[in-house]
Amino acid sequence: MILGVETSCDETAAALVTSDGVIRSNVVSSQADLHARYGGVVPEVASRRHLELVTPVIREALAEADADLDDVELVGVTAGPGLIGALLIGVAAAKAMAWARRLPLVPVDHLQGHVASLYLQPTLVEPPFLCLLASGGHTMLLDVQRHGGRPRLLGTTLDDAAGEAFDKGARLLGLGYPGGAEIDRLARDGDPTAFDFPVARVPGLDFSFSGLKTALLYTTRELRPDELERTRADLAASYQRAIVRALVDRTRQAAAEIGATTIAVVGGVAANSELRAALPEAVVVPLELCTDNAAMIASAARFDEPIPYPGYLGLDAYASTA
Ligand code: KG4
Ligand code: ZN
Repeated sequence: MILGVETSCDETAAALVTSDGVIRSNVVSSQADLHARYGGVVPEVASRRHLELVTPVIREALAEADADLDDVELVGVTAGPGLIGALLIGVAAAKAMAWARRLPLVPVDHLQGHVASLYLQPTLVEPPFLCLLASGGHTMLLDVQRHGGRPRLLGTTLDDAAGEAFDKGARLLGLGYPGGAEIDRLARDGDPTAFDFPVARVPGLDFSFSGLKTALLYTTRELRPDELERTRADLAASYQRAIVRALVDRTRQAAAEIGATTIAVVGGVAANSELRAALPEAVVVPLELCTDNAAMIASAARFDEPIPYPGYLGLDAYASTA
């Protein structure tokens, strides 16, 4: 079995996945409540919480899989990109687990982890496909030609990520953090045509969401508190519609440009109900695997070259992919 560990942001996660991609356990401990009062993730607070949680979470993943460390053959851990202090906790824990049992270890790229969420059983799709990866930190179109490795980047956001746009929009609307799911819920009671939020069209296959957030800011500023209260659902629905439209248009454009016949959607924003409905032709990751988890990290570890014991002891985490 493969032990996966993920601590790149505010979820402490561990999972056990078989060598053919069956999930045996998938434990996610979210710190969202801890960060909610700050309206976003506080890196130092996150690192400290990961340190407290990483061992109990791994222990729980083993217990749920009815396994112990002797059943683990390979360890996969998110090495980046993410919050450096948070990543280092997971990397140190994974090294310790692997070293204690003389196991090989795979450093996993978090973004490839999201893509590999598609390869867990029952397998949803096999390469080649066009992948829209939309999360709190990234918005990318990837040309996935094979399992593992680094797919060709076709487009990315020039400013905010789609999930970031949801989170910042939610804050302007007085909703909680993280805001994507809250906007999704509220938008169901709103009229998506009530407000016109323009999405900047940038050249090529890139995205831009920062103007949208500013448009919402100006709109909310002009509303009296009682008006804001009354139109909150309409604002959420219109704002969500604009983000989804931008994602869907660019994805279809990319598919046409590269001649992709299969489209897949992964990452936290893939949980969005309007996005899922707006791309009926796409393969979308199951809800529970959209947001950060360690099963996807173990899944990615199946397709990358492991570092044999003890070569990984000097392994470092990286905050961004440069
Ligand atoms: O993939 P993820 O868990 O973490 C990163 O790697 O960033 O994505 C988290 C993002 C957050 O911005 C959150 O607001 C967004 O995914 N999200 C959603 C929904 N559920 C989570 N956005 C829109 N609609 C949702 N239902
Ligand atoms: Zn993620």
